[in-house]
Amino acid sequence: MDSVKVFAPATVANLCSGYDLLGLAIDFPGDEVVLRAKKEPGLVIKKIQGDEGKLPYDSGENCVTVAIQAYLDYMDSQAGFEVELHKKMPIGSGLGSSSASSVAGIFAANYLLGEPLAKKELVQFAIEGERVACGSAHADNVAPSLLGGIVSVNSYDPLIINEIELGLDIFLGVVHPNIEVRTADARAVLPKKIEMGDVVRQSGYLSSLLLGLSQADEQMIKFGLQDVLAQPHRAKLIPHFLQAKELALQMGALGCGISGSGPSIFTMTTQKEKAKEIAAEIARLFASKGIESSFYCSGINKNGARVVE
Ligand code: HSE
Repeated sequence: MDSVKVFAPATVANLCSGYDLLGLAIDFPGDEVVLRAKKEPGLVIKKIQGDEGKLPYDSGENCVTVAIQAYLDYMDSQAGFEVELHKKMPIGSGLGSSSASSVAGIFAANYLLGEPLAKKELVQFAIEGERVACGSAHADNVAPSLLGGIVSVNSYDPLIINEIELGLDIFLGVVHPNIEVRTADARAVLPKKIEMGDVVRQSGYLSSLLLGLSQADEQMIKFGLQDVLAQPHRAKLIPHFLQAKELALQMGALGCGISGSGPSIFTMTTQKEKAKEIAAEIARLFASKGIESSFYCSGINKNGARVVE
């Protein structure tokens, strides 16, 4: 096998109380990467589609090739690849766009080398793509995009990652208002120091969310989908976010928050139809304010990155 096409899904990171620690994969959208083995070592980006010319062709600057190179260096491999990136989701959307690209690239490289590493072991290289894309090597998008499901990052050093066993079916409505928020900017608005009281509150929310998800306790999930660390500072970057959140909660969502660093907004429910209704209503709210948006409705993507052909 000397070529492969891989799909890696979009992700919703943070899930309110799990800043940089929790994320989940959805079915759609996602990015595709095609890798073709070449005789000489080195990575050459041949084509990037769907990025409106925004992404670099320089393999030292593009998150896909940076991540693949980190993997090849670790494997002490002299393999060389031509790379095609098909962006199928907006950049700067809060849906883990750069992560899906890096993950698809890494997964494809590992596949062509005969899968010497397990999926979980690939996370450490995929976060190098995040480092180059936004200046921060967080794993809460790349881990669920690779592994699927809801994933918790329990530690960064050493990197410890665990998949959360779900006790109930969860559905997401995700609305992407057509504005761009750069992750680096959304991280820059966060305070460098946090009050002890806020840390205690957030820890309570996070443990409630994890308990609720594994024990199928909707009240605990609801309580856990709160955030006093990031959301209060980032809300101002997303016009009408607070109104959208109020609308979602009134319509019966278990919770509503900023997806990753935004501007996408996610709502969580236990019913697919409800997720769709709420997302459509938030999209209508944006339209009434003159902001175009697109929305997705999905269960949890349990597989993560996969070979397409
Ligand atoms: N945890 C990251 C953040 C996710 O909130 O900045 C970015 O997609």
